[in-house]
Amino acid sequence: MTDDGRMRRVPVRLEGGRSYPIDVGPGVLSGLGAVARANLPAEARRVALVSNPRVFDLYGARAIASLRGAGFSVSHWLMSDGERFKTLRTAERCLRFLSESELERADAVAALGGGVVGDLAGFAAALYLRGVAFVQVPTTLLAQIDSSVGGKTGVNTRAGKNLVGAFHQPRAVVVDTETLRTLPARELTAGWCEAIKQGAVGDRRLFERTRKFLEEESRRKVACRIGTGRDGSRADVRGGGRDEGRGEGRDEELAELIAEQCAFKAKIVAGDEREDISRADARSRRVLNFGHTVGHALESLTGYRRFRHGEAVGHGMIAAAEISKRLGLLDGSELESLRGAVRAAGHLPAASDLDAGMVARALRADKKAVGGSVRWVLLERIGRARVVDGREVPARVIRESIRAALGAR
Ligand code: NAD
Ligand code: GLY
Repeated sequence: MTDDGRMRRVPVRLEGGRSYPIDVGPGVLSGLGAVARANLPAEARRVALVSNPRVFDLYGARAIASLRGAGFSVSHWLMSDGERFKTLRTAERCLRFLSESELERADAVAALGGGVVGDLAGFAAALYLRGVAFVQVPTTLLAQIDSSVGGKTGVNTRAGKNLVGAFHQPRAVVVDTETLRTLPARELTAGWCEAIKQGAVGDRRLFERTRKFLEEESRRKVACRIGTGRDGSRADVRGGGRDEGRGEGRDEELAELIAEQCAFKAKIVAGDEREDISRADARSRRVLNFGHTVGHALESLTGYRRFRHGEAVGHGMIAAAEISKRLGLLDGSELESLRGAVRAAGHLPAASDLDAGMVARALRADKKAVGGSVRWVLLERIGRARVVDGREVPARVIRESIRAALGAR
């Protein structure tokens, strides 16, 4: 990682000398044009910007001004906001926009928004002319530390989430941490759960740093007697409040932490770019699914309406850690440490009304199953994951763990 004043540059190093930068820092959106110029093909003339109305209203003008300032001709198109629009039909509309923008092989797509915009625009970029370059400009915490890095793009179908997609790596990722100031509190909590996950599966120091940051935010919030944030307007960086009273030092600390999170994700992706299904080791991309088995079951049982994805993962991580403890893999104190971190991330919607047996049945449909059996990502300790075949986890242990994690019936 290099640190250039207020900007950190994290490299993603892939096989075959392919490499791209993730630029992280407050205000780096104004450097988007220069980053695009430096990382897109020399012949690139046009950039087609994809966003949604909410994000475009906030940041579209700055993104376009920066791209134009670097000599690109820019067109833009806004998809509807929300997971339910991450579909093949929207991708087709996006492809039509790319065609109407007369994008050529050397030109590029830029995705400005959260994971929904990034996944959809990246997918369209992978398909258009059999693949044009694209740049990610993530504006949610989840997208900044996770979805914009690593080249997974795709859409949802009736059969499930992210079932159609392509691996298509961006040419650059521009993470302006100031954009988090306008993010609703729940979106921050969801992102922080994914951040906790990254430390928990592979980097104890990162986990501790994330936990401490969140606990400090929590203390600061109480000290400032800030409002409840129920209006979801401007969130503080933990989720659940407003951002009054946050100093520049905190902004720098946040940027530093996000850069470290990106560096962690970059390292995993570099070692297992396409999530090789034969791999189940502690450094495989598969370990990033920690908390997702129960998380997906919770999302699907509640019709994708009750939980943000990261919130469901928050509950799912505790369930997986409960299983780990019951199998004798994980010490109870480590489980408590994980619980503390998830609590510090913010309030999660309750899941105690759900029947543990129903959750256990729903998780059999996990699309990450291999050879018909669920692959559990469990913990040996904070910072070290272990992938365990579902056949080695007794049904009773699963039900008890879900009950303990969710306070469920
Ligand atoms: P999202 O894209 O739906 O964004 C959440 C909400 O925040 C939206 O309403 C959006 O308009 C709004 N928003 C975005 N940035 C904002 C800002 N700065 N200020 C105010 N509002 C803002 O949700 P998400 O959590 O970013 O992404 C979820 C998606 O990411 C899912 O589709 C999931 O499948 C995908 N995902 C992909 C990967 C991957 O590796 N490709 C990894 C994890 C998740
Ligand atoms: N979010 C999981 C992955 O990128 O592999």
